[in-house]
Amino acid sequence: MTDNALDASLAVVILAAGQGTRMRSSLPKVLHRIGGRPLVGHVLDTARDLAPAHVVVVVRHERDLVAEAVLGVSDEVVVVDQDEIPGTGRAVEVALRHLRDFEGDVLVLSGDVPLLDADALTPFLAAHRAASSAATLLSAVLDDPTGYGRVLRDETGAVAQIVEQKDATAEQAAVREVNAGVYLFQAGPLRAELERVGTDNAQGEKYLTDVIGMLRADAYEVAASIVADVTSVMGVNDRVQLSEAARVLNARTVRKWQLAGVTVQDPASTWIDVTATLAPDVTVLPHTQILRATVIGEGAVVGPDTTLEDCEVGAGATVRRSDATLAVIGERASVGPFAYLRPGTQLGARGKIGTFVETKNSTIGEGSKVPHLSYIGDTTIGRGVNLGAGAITANYDDIAKHRTEIGDEVHSGSHNVFVAPVRIGDGAKTGAGAVIRKDVPAGALALSVAPQRNVEGWVENHRPGTGAAEAAARARSAEKADDVAQEESH
Ligand code: UD1
Ligand code: CA
Repeated sequence: MTDNALDASLAVVILAAGQGTRMRSSLPKVLHRIGGRPLVGHVLDTARDLAPAHVVVVVRHERDLVAEAVLGVSDEVVVVDQDEIPGTGRAVEVALRHLRDFEGDVLVLSGDVPLLDADALTPFLAAHRAASSAATLLSAVLDDPTGYGRVLRDETGAVAQIVEQKDATAEQAAVREVNAGVYLFQAGPLRAELERVGTDNAQGEKYLTDVIGMLRADAYEVAASIVADVTSVMGVNDRVQLSEAARVLNARTVRKWQLAGVTVQDPASTWIDVTATLAPDVTVLPHTQILRATVIGEGAVVGPDTTLEDCEVGAGATVRRSDATLAVIGERASVGPFAYLRPGTQLGARGKIGTFVETKNSTIGEGSKVPHLSYIGDTTIGRGVNLGAGAITANYDDIAKHRTEIGDEVHSGSHNVFVAPVRIGDGAKTGAGAVIRKDVPAGALALSVAPQRNVEGWVENHRPGTGAAEAAARARSAEKADDVAQEESH
């Protein structure tokens, strides 16, 4: 299917009305995230890739939250409210009210089956259409079928019905072929059967799965496609399955980038959101998270132990043992180890944000360095600047935030405080320990520290008998002995 040609005889219904009781969460299940996106977001992506004429999402539990998330992905989706009658069958029934004149194929997807992509569904759709079945379901053969509905077949091997785990006899429960919760139905027969589905089962719900047995009883053709890759139909019902699905998705994402030329040393400890982009010859070292819309340029080295969220990392840059959000790191720049880049940080090409440095809402120009132990907030730094160890921009006066502006080629001494608002002109220098409260003109040397005064003998006079006094006395007698020896040698 090409991007713009809609499949006029395909409608997708996504079930997202359930509470997800087994998650034990205040957040609706389908809004829990894997790969940086809510479960239902992955399902919407899959739906969109199939280019259906209609996408209907059924909501009920926390409907506003779910509807907002869904419409945030696409405003062409129709959100439909399920009523107080529970069950997947009822959910599809209310969805069909919004597809009243539709006579094509209805693809039902579950909001909690996030790993199924369009590549897996395209042959499923083709098989369904080729066979003209009233229903085709996707099934999987699992070593442990616990929790899923079982696919029961008749003596000819044809699908006879689906029985839910809670309604299954011991013999039925032993069947390892499970219902993936993904179906294709012809709209007409589906509509007709749903009206007659009852709630006489262990959960008192209108089961969509009952439609399968009913269609068979009414002599319709029903087929099942068994998926080869069972991970693609994993359902997420609890947080154990959530982490399992996240791991499978992540393994896929890592593999995709590896095949595209990215070195990932340890896939198991590397987490890459589906929304991130990595160029060829990027190297990702262990225990690194590349999140949201992060983009990493060619040849950059990221990690170990690094988290990047919504960041842009330039080609050839290195980021070691650091944490950055909404930051731009220039080409061949260097960050870390142990740097914390907060939103609005922009580091120029070949610049450096070094060890134990925190930055926020600041621009650091090309080739400029903040190498050690610093806080740089609300600051603009020009090119070729070097700030000495321990530079602090005091950007907050208890009432408001102010900016520090540092020109090109400025070199500051160690342990400076820049009390904002303040400007340092191009080429200026500052002395060690300076507290810069006033603007420094271009090319000036700013000194703010009082001259040092040594009070000789203070320790021996005021702290007699202490280790310090004894050490001082030893040093003084050694100095005297030295002086005598030197005089004798002359
Ligand atoms: C369902 C199937 C089961 C299948 C499994 C696959 C039924 C009766 N059972 O079981 O055969 O093996 O999926 O993952 O269909 N939902 C609604 N409205 C409701 C109830 C649920 O929209 O009233 C939605 C949920 O939000 C969820 C999906 O339907 O996204 C499936 O519901 P869930 O309760 O998780 O069904 P399972 O017990 O997993
Ligand atoms: Ca489920």
